[in-house]
Amino acid sequence: MAAGALWLVLVVGSLCPLVSGDPSFTIDYNKNCFLKDGQCFRYISGSIHYFRIPSSYWKDRLLKMYMTGLNAVQIYVPWNFHEPQPGVYNFRGDHDLEHFLNLTMELGLLVIMRPGPYICAEWDMGGLPAWLLNKKDISLRASDPDYLKAVDSWLSVLLPKLRPRLYNNGGNIISVQVENEYGSFQACDYGYMRHLHTMFRLYLGDDVVLFTTDGNADYFLKCGTLQDLYATVDFGPVANVTKAFEAMRRYQPRGPLVNSEYYMGWLDYWGDKHAVSPADRVSEGLQAILESGASVNMYMFEGGTNFGYWNGADFPHVYKPITTSYDYDAPLTEAGDPTDKLLAIRSVISKFQPVPQGPIPPPTPKFFYGLVTFKKVGDLADLLDMLSPTDPFVTQYPITFEDAKQYFGFMLYRNRLTGDVPEPTPLSAVVSGVHDRGYVSVGGQFYGVLERDSLKDVNVTGKEGQWLDVLVENMGRINYGSNLKDFKGLIGNLTLGTDILENWVMYPLNLDGPISQGWPHIMDDQILRVPKAGNGTGPAIYSGTFKINDIGDTYLKMHKWTKGQVWINGFNLGRYWPVRGPQVTLYVPGTILSCSQVNNITVLELENAPDDPLAMLVDRPILNGTSTRKMSGSLLRSHEQRRWTLI
Ligand SMILES: *[C@@H]1O[C@H](CO)[C@@H](O)[C@H](O)[C@H]1NC(C)=O
Ligand SMILES: *[C@@H]1O[C@H](CO)[C@@H](O)[C@H](O)[C@H]1NC(C)=O
Ligand SMILES: *[C@@H]1O[C@H](CO)[C@@H](O)[C@H](O)[C@H]1NC(C)=O
Ligand SMILES: *[C@@H]1O[C@H](CO)[C@@H](O)[C@H](O)[C@H]1NC(C)=O
Ligand SMILES: *[C@@H]1O[C@H](CO)[C@@H](O)[C@H](O)[C@H]1NC(C)=O
Ligand SMILES: *[C@@H]1O[C@H](CO)[C@@H](O)[C@H](O)[C@H]1NC(C)=O
Ligand SMILES: *[C@@H]1O[C@H](CO)[C@@H](O)[C@H](O)[C@H]1NC(C)=O
Repeated sequence: MAAGALWLVLVVGSLCPLVSGDPSFTIDYNKNCFLKDGQCFRYISGSIHYFRIPSSYWKDRLLKMYMTGLNAVQIYVPWNFHEPQPGVYNFRGDHDLEHFLNLTMELGLLVIMRPGPYICAEWDMGGLPAWLLNKKDISLRASDPDYLKAVDSWLSVLLPKLRPRLYNNGGNIISVQVENEYGSFQACDYGYMRHLHTMFRLYLGDDVVLFTTDGNADYFLKCGTLQDLYATVDFGPVANVTKAFEAMRRYQPRGPLVNSEYYMGWLDYWGDKHAVSPADRVSEGLQAILESGASVNMYMFEGGTNFGYWNGADFPHVYKPITTSYDYDAPLTEAGDPTDKLLAIRSVISKFQPVPQGPIPPPTPKFFYGLVTFKKVGDLADLLDMLSPTDPFVTQYPITFEDAKQYFGFMLYRNRLTGDVPEPTPLSAVVSGVHDRGYVSVGGQFYGVLERDSLKDVNVTGKEGQWLDVLVENMGRINYGSNLKDFKGLIGNLTLGTDILENWVMYPLNLDGPISQGWPHIMDDQILRVPKAGNGTGPAIYSGTFKINDIGDTYLKMHKWTKGQVWINGFNLGRYWPVRGPQVTLYVPGTILSCSQVNNITVLELENAPDDPLAMLVDRPILNGTSTRKMSGSLLRSHEQRRWTLI
């Protein structure tokens, strides 16, 4: 046995002499390629967001990416997901970044890290923690000392976790991106980029490949690039790849060509059409990039879901929140299933490098579990003891969510009427004064919705002493462009008729706490009420249960409901808004379901529940349902689509 072991050591030792055996990943500026262990190397990578996929599915998705023939994955790290309060960190369960990185290593995939601190990603505030806004005049993504202090503190926690995982240190991280498309941000603060560069070098060492990514035009690259950071670009399918790389070449005359975000599809906004990119166009574009010898990362390869309140929003000229689904029309669907696009891409890759033999794992079974019926638990305003256990804030004029340290979800703003309002009288917000939607009731009667940028007033009537309630919903913070400081709540005064309303009582709501503890299903007596007449049932909680015999993924269709938030077994599935579309069904991962116990479903409907409140668990998604508005942008799927912040 000892002899056998010795023989093995000798053989391995002779195959890997020490000199060239040390792993190394660098750039060869003469041969214009990456050098991996001394050999020219090109990566064919795909983006996957672990924070949009339940952790028990991570391995499945990575295996499918490996089987497609990818040799690398590119990942973002969202700061706000891991540091929910200053100095409080979460790296457990679905937040366990190191577990995810271990899986990439086990599957033999290389990793291109994009730790931010800003990531965009159509994620709340582009990954920056909303608590940064506690300092109202903070300059984000710039050399503001308070911003840098928070950044440095975060990097001192995150980057040391990555260091032993760098390729040169025996791990699988080949390169690390600094900031993200910084050239698209108006600040153009080279001092900030230099500061990040210093911090990344301090924690990661001098030999790791650090890079930047920007849109492929000079006006992006100008402020996004920095000496010693390798400049790369991003663009979708194009006719002429040489031309598409010209801007990169002006800033990076030598070294490998890299498209860090080759767009597989595009994101969806509530109220727009579902974005699709045909498989043939995407795979032809990929072929052209690979023929040019470039390294490429496909964005997204697996999009996943904006569970909870994590979606971001864009602000081309009005506020446009991103849908709950981040399917992205990617090669793997939101539920991780291979598509024709994946097969087309695999066949392109196989022309350039061997792809693993064997079949791609098939789609996971999807279940049609059928109908769920609901009971009304109560109007939200009657459940404040449970949902807002702390003392309310009492102030003359309304304060923001950030002032109340209520960063996500909902806050109830109450104002007691000081006189009768017998005639319909407009309750009005200043232009864009409600971030982002306010659900208006008086004396428990629902009157309608105030919506940022579009619905400025609602007529109400009421009696002296009644509560005028505005339940305000944070629909997700802006993730791109110059409006990153997106304070939530009532950010201006409300007027009733001609009077500015004063003396507010504000209740920050914590629905996720009680619901994750089993409420309202643990209540013996549910409050049953008949739906109200008028303009809608208004904000209220409903609960239902369902039993299943087999566990698998399914899709929740909130048939005839209007808008709200939904939880299954305490897990926050995200927002539904079928009347606005295009997303009609919500992805329900089988990992949250039970076949030994009854499954509990809880709904916060904000506007109007159906007379007969029921929902369906169906076996296929609908992401392209009716939308009430026309597509406002062009169909061009590229970075150009977001150029508006620079012009
Ligand atoms: C990652 O893998 C290492 C080495 O096998 C192990 O020691 C560590 O516990 C793993 N970490 C996690 C979070 O799984
Ligand atoms: C692609 O663009 C390059 C550089 O602009 C140009 O020289 C070349 O002729 C173009 N190729 C085609 C097929 O149009
Ligand atoms: C509110 O009522 C006034 C009349 O009092 C009417 O002119 C106006 O159109 C109403 N506004 C809405 C939004 O219904
Ligand atoms: C509300 O109105 C008062 C009185 O005009 C003013 O002092 C205050 O700044 C206003 N608040 C906001 C948020 O606009
Ligand atoms: C649903 O709620 C009931 C009542 O609290 C509880 O007994 C059961 O465990 C819950 N089901 C699941 C899957 O958590
Ligand atoms: C419903 O809305 C309309 C239009 O705003 C209004 O005229 C009517 O009074 C409202 N009805 C109730 C019961 O709120
Ligand atoms: C929605 O997508 C499905 C499945 O891809 C397709 O069959 C259907 O025609 C699409 N509907 C619309 C309105 O585009």
